[in-house]
Amino acid sequence: MAESESITKPTARFEDLRGILRYVPQFRQRVFVIAIDGAVMHQPGFASLLQDVAVLQSLNIEVVLVFGARAQIRSLAERRGVPLTSDDGMSRTDLATLEVAVEAITRQASELMADLTALELPVVISNALVVHPAGVIEGVDQEFTGRIERVDSESLRVLLKADIIPILPPLGYDGRGATLRLNSDAVATEVAIALGAAKVIFVSEAGLTCPDGSRLAQISVADARDIARKRDARHDVNLLSKLRYAALACQEGVPRVHIVDGTQDEALLAELFSNEGVGTMIHADDYQQIRKARSSDIPMLLGMMQQSMDDAALVPRTREQIQSKIKDFFVLETDGNPIGCVAVHSYDEEGRRVAELACLFVRRSHKNRGHGQKLVAYAEDVARQRSCSVLVALSTQAFRFFEEKMGFQVTTPDALPVARREKYDRSGRNSKVLIKALK
Ligand SMILES: CC(C)(COP(=O)(O)OP(=O)(O)OC[C@H]1O[C@@H](n2cnc3c(N)ncnc32)[C@H](O)[C@@H]1OP(=O)(O)O)[C@@H](O)C(=O)NCCC(=O)NCCS
Repeated sequence: MAESESITKPTARFEDLRGILRYVPQFRQRVFVIAIDGAVMHQPGFASLLQDVAVLQSLNIEVVLVFGARAQIRSLAERRGVPLTSDDGMSRTDLATLEVAVEAITRQASELMADLTALELPVVISNALVVHPAGVIEGVDQEFTGRIERVDSESLRVLLKADIIPILPPLGYDGRGATLRLNSDAVATEVAIALGAAKVIFVSEAGLTCPDGSRLAQISVADARDIARKRDARHDVNLLSKLRYAALACQEGVPRVHIVDGTQDEALLAELFSNEGVGTMIHADDYQQIRKARSSDIPMLLGMMQQSMDDAALVPRTREQIQSKIKDFFVLETDGNPIGCVAVHSYDEEGRRVAELACLFVRRSHKNRGHGQKLVAYAEDVARQRSCSVLVALSTQAFRFFEEKMGFQVTTPDALPVARREKYDRSGRNSKVLIKALK
């Protein structure tokens, strides 16, 4: 997918702002864990990346920063002539490696503090991780490599509530005076799970690509795990590690994980605040199906949609009205629980068949996970199967969703089939009329 023009064009600043503000309500007071690779901190664009963090903070998003140090540890070890047992905290850390790691990470933390202070961002380096030695793995004593036992989420929450950004270095302390080396992807993941974060964003020095070289824009947890397990040679170990932890985070309740190439200009904001994104999004995948509605679903459907009918987002419907059109209704289930629905009505007109998408609804608890888009795409398929050339939808409150997410266009009521137009005029709802040509 193409990089979002509205974000990257310097001439489109007001557009950018509007685009960003559209997302603000759903992200306000939500936790974003941003994990920055050490290599990115050497890049010329790092200062603007930190400015983007300041933008997030100013939008009332609760930011936790985690940083990696592989590049810094490698370069310090090279200067000192110290052979490393592990540069990423994933395998054995001997004493010499730990000493180099502590020095490199401490210097990095100090530089980060200086940069964030220059942006007037209050930050605190946190020791909220409860850590133990990783112990013996496959017969090898991991020495100073640590394993995260749990996260003191309370102390992090206190900081976040006070608008202070906690910074977590890839080091842990075991309570007996020992310092242990941690992997930063693991730190970000554990912190995000513990805080019930809305997102983890891994800012890496490269992005994930498809076999044809294009950007890998979105993958499910199962696919992320699969690529990580197969050790696909297209991606370096660093990205594979991120995929593995992304899958874990999603599995443990973080809805979305993003991997962005931090060497790209404005990657962080463009990924979060443009429809297309610029990185890779890994999303939680429940077992789902869309099936035909049954008469026995009607009480559940009415119950589920009551609030939206009260709010006038949906046309009020009676049990009898749904029953008479039950063949047009479809239910989206996750693990056997109905979480959304959509209806497709078709009309024969002279020379064309027109489908109407109606009664689109997703339960509040399941919003913003792509279900609405899935239901609309499904309705489009149903309409195509019924040989309809266009799909129309009427909406009072979700017309932007249809326009921006699903490629519909606002049109005039004249586009409605004659029979539907009469009903539209009688209803007095003044809904926006949206249309999409079906190919
Ligand atoms: C509209 C609705 C179906 C969307 O369902 P959903 O599962 O939350 O949508 P998705 O997860 O597929 O898409 C979420 C995206 O759409 C955007 N979106 C959702 N509702 C929106 C609305 N009313 N206006 C503009 N954008 C909207 C979200 O901001 C999000 O954007 P992002 O991916 O860039 O972060 C759902 O909000 C709903 O049930 N609304 C009440 C009933 C209604 O209005 N139905 C339409 C009448 S036919």
